[in-house]
Formats: sequence, C-alpha cells, structure tokens
Amino acid sequence: AQKSRIAITPGDGIGPEVVAEAVRCLETLRSRHNLNLEWTRFPWPSHAWHEEHGESMPENALDQLKAFDAILLGALGDPGPVDDPQRYLLPDSISLAPLLDMRKGFDQWVCERPARLLPGARQYLADERAKDIDMLVIRENSEGEYVSQGGRLRKGTPNEVATQMEVFTRYATDRIIRYGFEQARLRAGERMKQGRTRQFKTLDGRTSESQVCIVTKRNALRYWGDMYSEAFEEISKEYPDVATHHELVDAACMKFVQCPWAFDVVVASNLQGDILTDLAAVLSGGMGVAPSCNLNPTDAKMPSMFEPTHGSAPDIAGQGLADPTAMLFTTARMMEWLGRKDPALAAAGQKLFDAVAADLAENAGAQRGTHEIGTAICHRLESN
Ligand code: IPM
Ligand code: MN
Repeated sequence: AQKSRIAITPGDGIGPEVVAEAVRCLETLRSRHNLNLEWTRFPWPSHAWHEEHGESMPENALDQLKAFDAILLGALGDPGPVDDPQRYLLPDSISLAPLLDMRKGFDQWVCERPARLLPGARQYLADERAKDIDMLVIRENSEGEYVSQGGRLRKGTPNEVATQMEVFTRYATDRIIRYGFEQARLRAGERMKQGRTRQFKTLDGRTSESQVCIVTKRNALRYWGDMYSEAFEEISKEYPDVATHHELVDAACMKFVQCPWAFDVVVASNLQGDILTDLAAVLSGGMGVAPSCNLNPTDAKMPSMFEPTHGSAPDIAGQGLADPTAMLFTTARMMEWLGRKDPALAAAGQKLFDAVAADLAENAGAQRGTHEIGTAICHRLESN
C-alpha cells in the first residue's frame, strides 16, 4: 500500500504529554508490523506561538496539514503561564480557532464520540446496568450553532445587543442523519460478530438490533427542529431495520443519566452534540478515556482529525498525571480510519484498541502516571 502520512499537532497543556505516549505506541506498532506509516510533528503551542506571531498557528497551517492523510491532535487552549499576571487574557478565540478552522477547512462534517463503559473504567452511575452503556454520539460538525454569524451592536453600552445566528441546511442535515443510520447498521453488524446483541423496538413494534435517536429542541426552536424531524422521518424509511427515536435535548440529558444503556446511535446538532458528549464522556468513565474524531467521509483528499474529547487541562499539565487512555483510543480510531486505504493499519489499530482496553481492565482504579500507562501499553503491543 501507499505510504500513509500523519500530521501530529501536540498543542497545549497535557496535549504533548499524551501525544508522546501515542507516538511511542505508533513506533512500536510500526516496527513490529512493518507499517508503511510516517509522521511529522508540528509544534504549535498556542500561547508561545501567539506571543511571537500574534496568532496561535502559522497562517498557512491548513495548507501544511492538507498534504497529510490524518491529523493527530493533542489538545488546544492555553491560558498562559501560571505566574503570568496576563494569564487568561489570551482571547479564547485565538487559542481555539485552529480547531474550528480545521473542522471547517477540511469539511470534517462528522464528529464521532463513542461512549462505552469498558471494564476497568470508572463507573460514575451506581446502577448495575451502567455496564451496558454503549452509545455513539454523532455530532453535526459543520454548521448549526457554530457558524459564527452575528455580532454585537452598541458594544459596551447598557443597550448592547449580541446576536448569534444558527444555520441549518437540509444538505448537512440529510448527510449527518444518513451517516447515523449507516453507523447503526455497522455497529449492529460488529456486535453480531462479537456475539453481543441488543434489542430495540422499531416504530411498528418489531424488535431491532440497532437504533438511531435524533436530538432536537423542536418544542422551542421550531424551524430547525421541524426540518431535522422531517429529514429523520424520510431517511429512516431507507433503514426499516433500524429503530428510531426522537428526544428533546433537555430530556436527552436526563435520560443519559437515568437510562444511558437504552441509547445506541445518537445524532445531535453541533452545540447540543458538544454538550451531550461531555456528559457521555463521564458515562464512559470520564474525560481520561473518551476518544473523539472529526471526519470527512466524503472527500478522501481532505485529512480527518483525531483528538480526544478532553482539553489541555492546564491544572495538571507538566506533571505527568494526565491519563493517555483517551488519546490512545483516539489513535486506534485513526488507524482504523487510515485502514480504509491500507488494511494493515486497521489491523494495527485493532491491536492498539485491544491493548488499551486490556490495560484499562487490568488496572481499574490504579494511580498511574502518563508515562507508566503508555509504557504498559507499549509492552503489550510488543508481545502481541
Ligand atoms: C470540543 C470542544 C470545542 C468545541 C471547543 C474547544 C471549541 O469543546 O471539541 O468539544 O466546542 O467543539
Ligand atoms: Mn466540547
């Protein structure tokens, strides 16, 4: 197969620490399985870069990244050194913009955030059924509340008005919903292979192996809510084997805590998906284990971006305390994605996933540092 190339952007805070462990695992996999894989590091910590250049990444960052098959990102966002009185004065828009620029610039219109409570992960819910939590939240990643349209009128006066527009197109709605149904089928197929089954009810009362739940706030935000619902209805007819379900976002929050095991695939708008996936991350054991990816499934020339759900965690940065598990699950997903071009990479991704999951299962509740966890997982990869 052709060589696959990864751009690695460690970013800020704990980003470089967890990325270092991902790179060690990639090195181990590459040499052990002779993978045709290479990577290039782009050290663009937003604070330092900003101080020097007034921006958090070089102006041509996207052009540089475009040449790669995938981007592996640690975390972005840096309030500055703890002893700096200017701390937190760096505008968020500067340190975070690259993330949103990449999603937009490479049309990464799908954000996949699985939440599965794997053995060994911290179980926040007391209910025994929490062990069955296994959902995939699919966040619309290209528009909606994140279009950044609006402004501030009469800024700084008592009569100031801020407007923030939300834009939903039928085009982006259809494609994300269809993607959700496709994932539901794939997941049911995967479960079948592993001898796991789940039962949902279709609208006409049949049982089904999979389900898609659409989330809106249709009772208050009528226009997009209605459009989402109609698109969902129509597209669901192409997937009679998949059960369907509609939740309002507030009720979805409640049910994520009350009965998260009842969800399979969940499709949500950009902002609602953002909020729901922090909640879902906790259901799966916390930010330390929650992977994420930003995909462009339609244009193979555009790199997809893989970053854990967590941020740069400045409070624990530089201490070797961050859990690299989320980053490593994210890396495994990246390898699976690259496997579309080179099946050897998908196989390596599966090995990585299995090693991380086994490490988690065997070290439930253990207090271990970033490097210690990475080392244990590398050892597993060497002997598997
Ligand atoms: C995420 C983050 C970002 C988002 C922020 C950092 C802009 O919260 O990836 O979930 O809102 O998308
Ligand atoms: Mn978020």
